[in-house]
Amino acid sequence: MNLFNVYPLFNINPVKAQGSFLWDDKGEKYLDFYGGHAVISIGHNHPYYQNKLKDQLDKISFYSNSVQNELQTELAEKLGKISGYEDYNLFLCNSGAEANENALKLASFHNGKTKVLYFSGSFHGRTSAAVSVTDNPKIVAPVNFSERFIKSEWNNIGQLEETFKIHGNEISSVIIEGIQGVGGIMIPTAEFLSKIKELCEKFNTVLILDEVQSGYGRSGYFFAHQEFGIQPDIITIAKGMGNGFPVGGVLIHPKFEASNGLLGTTFGGNHLACAAAIAVLDVMEDENLIENAQQMGHYIEQEIKDFPHIKLIRRKGLMIGIELDRDCSEVRKSLLFDHHIFTGNSNDKNVLRILPALNIKKEETDLFISALKTVLEKI
Ligand SMILES: Cc1ncc(COP(=O)(O)O)c(C=O)c1O
Repeated sequence: MNLFNVYPLFNINPVKAQGSFLWDDKGEKYLDFYGGHAVISIGHNHPYYQNKLKDQLDKISFYSNSVQNELQTELAEKLGKISGYEDYNLFLCNSGAEANENALKLASFHNGKTKVLYFSGSFHGRTSAAVSVTDNPKIVAPVNFSERFIKSEWNNIGQLEETFKIHGNEISSVIIEGIQGVGGIMIPTAEFLSKIKELCEKFNTVLILDEVQSGYGRSGYFFAHQEFGIQPDIITIAKGMGNGFPVGGVLIHPKFEASNGLLGTTFGGNHLACAAAIAVLDVMEDENLIENAQQMGHYIEQEIKDFPHIKLIRRKGLMIGIELDRDCSEVRKSLLFDHHIFTGNSNDKNVLRILPALNIKKEETDLFISALKTVLEKI
């Protein structure tokens, strides 16, 4: 059997990883400034994380959501405390798309409405409703398309008000990323977010903040929206939550009523997933990683801002979009093959997406900074 060929692959085969470095099967060392799409939050193979998972493997790795699982309670308590959402409830699942899928369903169960408002440049995942609110027609299959999903322009308050004027009474939820990642590190304005919040309250519409990529400390806040002082009804998480172990979650305001069977999943919140997620939160707290994200992000920006060919830097914490005056693919390839540094791209072909681990060290950022300078001075 062959693999279903949907991914453009670099011809690199990593076999070992530690901290912010990877090694391939030929022993070549690479610096990871992308974390495999923003997943590696506390560094590869962090010893505390490894031990937590090994200990858990020795005890029990899985049983379904038909029995007590104290690890879920421990995770919910820790997450509530560190995020400031102690009064919210947690539903555990396996990925970002699944978290958003459940959030959209829950909103609709709650208010009985059918339409969803999303924004240009959005990416919310590839499952049914999640892909319908993703602004990329190439990945929306005909079976996912429906006029119930309404797109409005990013950061455009006038259009938002107009859309609510026409459809407001039918809009079940608004879904928005804390910071758009795949869209090219697009940051919402404070005015835009507070207008969304105001309209959601007025029209009994559920506000869903997708913090799958921008959450878990990456922006220098636990959740990116916390900088703006708004409070969503539902928050979705995944990626950095498990540092590579597949786990996702939905944080749900107490006004939403749970009932048996309303939501569910076979694997969500299993023992190993909870052990991984607890380990991530412990390390984030012990090592002050949110503060490190703020400091290292600021340092990188200061060091690179005057490099040639950089038009603009959009950044919060360690979520960094470097907009070049040209397509970034050659720069990315040179960073990878000439300097052994992984970086990311985005739907904007000029934007290099930088998402290092939150415990990146200054000397590691210096490797990236000096390689970027060399590459940009050469083109
Ligand atoms: C903001 C956002 N939401 C949702 C998703 C989907 O997450 P997953 O790939 O875990 O389903 C992604 C993935 O890139 C994302 O960036």
